[in-house]
Amino acid sequence: MGTLTIYDDVDPATPLFYSSDNAVIAARLNDVGIRFEQWTALREIPRDADDAAVLAVYQPDIDRLVAEEGYKSWDIVRVLPDNENRAVMRGKFLDEHTHSEDEVRFFAEGSGMFYLHIGTKVYMVLCEAADFISVPAGTTHWFDMGPRPHFTALRLFMSPDGWVASFTGSGYSAEFPKYETA
Ligand SMILES: [Fe+2]
Repeated sequence: MGTLTIYDDVDPATPLFYSSDNAVIAARLNDVGIRFEQWTALREIPRDADDAAVLAVYQPDIDRLVAEEGYKSWDIVRVLPDNENRAVMRGKFLDEHTHSEDEVRFFAEGSGMFYLHIGTKVYMVLCEAADFISVPAGTTHWFDMGPRPHFTALRLFMSPDGWVASFTGSGYSAEFPKYETA
């Protein structure tokens, strides 16, 4: 179950809104063009499961999204807490950036925090197992996987090249609460 906390972008100390109700979160995010929904998730993925095994489980969902949105490629990204590159991986998307295509993620297990900077608000969205989020191209955002990251996520892409980050250079992300996983 995810959560949503909304802040004014210049006041990271004062949450304006909070919800852990999926329907309420989806409605608030839909209002600003973000698709957020829940699929049926594999709660436990064996440590030795390979990407193909995870993809096979979600193939019906992938087929549905491809039919709806026209995604051209997809893959699995899995980060476990003992990954020796975790600090580098965490740092990669901690600064505010945009992409030229949608950032589409389904969390099959674990969690991660998206921060969507839309207008003068920051939408802090905790995504957990079963949560699907689609952040439209051009939306300023950042992502924190936490100090001990743990997630398996399906990514869908429109371009076969995948997606690259274009950093805005703003200092917003440094001001907001980090995702401090246990
Ligand atoms: Fe991103």
